[in-house]
Amino acid sequence: MTEQGRTAARKSYWDYPYPHYREIQRDTPVHYDEHLSAWLVTSYSAVVDALHHPHLSSAWLDHRADLHGKDAANARYVRSVFSRWFVLVDAPEHPQLRKSVIHAFTRRAIADLTPFVERRAAELLAAAIAAGGPVDVMADLATPLSASVIAHLLGMGQDVAAELPRWGAVFAKYLANAARTDAANETAAAVREISAVVRDQLPDAPAGSLVYELTNPVSGEPASVDDLVSTISLLLYAGLESTSNLIGLGVLALAERPGLRAELAGASAETMAAAIEELLRYDTSVLQVPRVATADMTLGGQRIHRGDLVVVMLGAANHDERRFPDPDTFDLRRDVSRHVAFGYGVHFCVGAPLARAEAAAFFTVLLRTAPEFALTAQPRWSSRHSVRSLDALPVLLFPAHQGVVAQ
Ligand code: HEM
Repeated sequence: MTEQGRTAARKSYWDYPYPHYREIQRDTPVHYDEHLSAWLVTSYSAVVDALHHPHLSSAWLDHRADLHGKDAANARYVRSVFSRWFVLVDAPEHPQLRKSVIHAFTRRAIADLTPFVERRAAELLAAAIAAGGPVDVMADLATPLSASVIAHLLGMGQDVAAELPRWGAVFAKYLANAARTDAANETAAAVREISAVVRDQLPDAPAGSLVYELTNPVSGEPASVDDLVSTISLLLYAGLESTSNLIGLGVLALAERPGLRAELAGASAETMAAAIEELLRYDTSVLQVPRVATADMTLGGQRIHRGDLVVVMLGAANHDERRFPDPDTFDLRRDVSRHVAFGYGVHFCVGAPLARAEAAAFFTVLLRTAPEFALTAQPRWSSRHSVRSLDALPVLLFPAHQGVVAQ
């Protein structure tokens, strides 16, 4: 099927939201949505302007959460933990908090982590193939891989990896419904569980792991258990679902394009890296990031008032045809150097090197182990606007030594 035919066949918003974004974009790059009570920023240039606008703050959660009602004790507890989530904090605190984890994502640190990622990807693929029949790429491969990698990076046991997706889902629900008491209560319970696990596993964190480095710093104060709980919860919220969806979206893109599979099997590291950048642009796993206006301001010709919520739509920017011609075509050779899948400016994704390395390792191992694979049913999409999230992706893998005919 051609790229144009594939886009035309995906009619629903959930199948492929980008043409729907472009309809808003053509109308106005910054549009007030009455239903969401928020400004939607959709053009590439307005998105980039928004992400470094001095009057757009990342501390949007306080404006949405109920911190003062009579049942708000758990919301206030969650707020105390999330107040160190540097994705929700502005300068001057933001750079200091961000600095505390940056060493875990250096080129050297990622190179040290890569053999673990390759080994775990190979184990998961071997188990999926041995089980026979279709695999659910999300439940059987992408989610356990991303969870294992985060647990390993932190220095927590692989038993903890099994719990991370559940906690991540609780946090996502809370951030989408921060005013709801039930979401705050569930999140407070998840935070208490993380706190108990940290206390239990802290003495065993291996040297070199993030938890070890934070509690045994070369200079400065060692992190407290509360600091660790904040850091762990932020990294698992920001890094788990985003990366597992990058892997799921990549398997989907490859399953639909035999030519791309053939080109990437045994490809150089540079070609694989180019494919991952185009994938990040073509199907953007974090579709939007929120901001709140701290003063009256103008963006994309619209007057925005202090306190207004502004939704910065990264996926729409990555499909703005003025920046990326023919944006619904997956083109391995296009210049994607300025896509905004990892954001832009001071909050640019700290985990981007890990996400890129994890995806490269996974696709390399996948194409070596099972160079052919096919969808056995349509993907199931989660109905959330903020992330491009797959609930299930059933695929039949054809292992290298068997070939397609043998199946
Ligand atoms: C494909 C995978 C990923 C995508 C698409 C992604 C996307 C993003 C985006 C768009 C932002 C900017 C948020 C904003 O401006 O409000 C961000 C920030 C962040 N990401 Fe990622 N991310 C990914 C993987 C990861 C991983 C693996 C980790 C860590 C394990 C991580 C940790 C973070 C953190 C801590 C921030 C906050 C940075 C700051 O505020 O300075 N991300 N990510």
